[in-house]
Amino acid sequence: MPLSADPILPPPSPEAADHSRRLAEHIAGEIVAAGDWIPFSRYMELALYAPGMGYYSAGSRKFGESGDFVTAPEISPMFGKCLGLQARQILETVGGDILELGPGSGALAAELFADLKEQGKLPDRYLLLEVSPDLRERQRALLAQRFPDDIGRFVWLDALPARIRGMVIANEVLDVVPFALIFRHRGEILERGVVLTEAGFAWDDARIPEGDLLRRARTVLPPGEYDYLTEVNLAGEALVRTLSRSLEAGAAIFIDYGFPEREYYHPQRSMGTLRCHYRHRFHGDPFFLPGLQDMTAHVDFTAMGDAAEQGGAEILGFTTQAYFLISSGLAALVSGGDPNMTLSRLKATSAVHRLISPSEMGELFKVLAFGKGIDSPLLGFQSARPMALKLSPDD
Ligand SMILES: C[S@@+](CC[C@H](N)C(=O)[O-])C[C@H]1O[C@@H](n2cnc3c(N)ncnc32)[C@H](O)[C@@H]1O
Repeated sequence: MPLSADPILPPPSPEAADHSRRLAEHIAGEIVAAGDWIPFSRYMELALYAPGMGYYSAGSRKFGESGDFVTAPEISPMFGKCLGLQARQILETVGGDILELGPGSGALAAELFADLKEQGKLPDRYLLLEVSPDLRERQRALLAQRFPDDIGRFVWLDALPARIRGMVIANEVLDVVPFALIFRHRGEILERGVVLTEAGFAWDDARIPEGDLLRRARTVLPPGEYDYLTEVNLAGEALVRTLSRSLEAGAAIFIDYGFPEREYYHPQRSMGTLRCHYRHRFHGDPFFLPGLQDMTAHVDFTAMGDAAEQGGAEILGFTTQAYFLISSGLAALVSGGDPNMTLSRLKATSAVHRLISPSEMGELFKVLAFGKGIDSPLLGFQSARPMALKLSPDD
């Protein structure tokens, strides 16, 4: 994460600019075919996942210092080690596999697997659900190089399995699942969509037919008639609900930036949370170089918790990333019981600071866990400050 809001964005190479132009033409073709308007969620889906062209489907470098953003597993191996401790507890309780959604570069899979191997507690299989063919290849190359003798345990999936036993982990996945933009304008609830103009893509708002999206928008929008722009992520909720239904026994852990509903749809957050990431800068223009930048929104964890419960799982915990990592045993991992810190330990300490500092990822990032057949409190929540997903009647 930590990014700067620099309005001066570096220009792309001629090849990258060509790539973006081809994707923009593809999206333009779809807008025309759809009757000159597509919802923003479809624009985002094409910009990120259009086969061979979208930001995640094509081959540009996204993660790390030379990419567009840095995620927790890329910042420090301690993130994966803490999840390794949590994984051990879950696997000792229910056995089975680890399923990782959206493994990105494969850094978390590598760290988690190495940690479990060292402890002699390997899962039956390490399943990876990755929508991007390019990222799958990168993950396969990294894991084959790190674990040549165990590569057979890694299995790539095209869809969620019908039944899951074990631990599910998803870091920064829900924020890139295409969401709808909802705009209340002069009291009327509209869906923000994309049209073509001579100058390129532009916003255009349309009435929302009766259905799930309108029902949800009516529920979450703060009272009043003032203009208010926000997001609703029905596809993310559907993913969580399906996963929860498929979970026979075990726990799923979702880590992402976001808030419970009361903070997400706060009256003052009237401009929404849509954010584009390009070369370690962020800005709010999703029409800038489609295919070369990421698009995200914060996660409404109350909606995700509800979806998990609808799928039959119970909520096992909700807290900040900092509390989760510390409760999982971060401090002992960093000190390693050694009072004389080596240089590499010191470096690890400054990376760890990024993971837990309130001004970086520690507070904005939250951890939601849900599961079935887990009776003891999960390690990552045992000494963590619990947070409420919903307002209590006294609030
Ligand atoms: C921001 S990256 C995070 C990568 C990695 N988890 C990390 O922490 O570095 C988002 C990842 O989610 C994947 N993804 C997006 N939608 C997905 C879905 N519906 N199911 C599984 N993976 C998905 C993307 O292809 C990408 O690998």
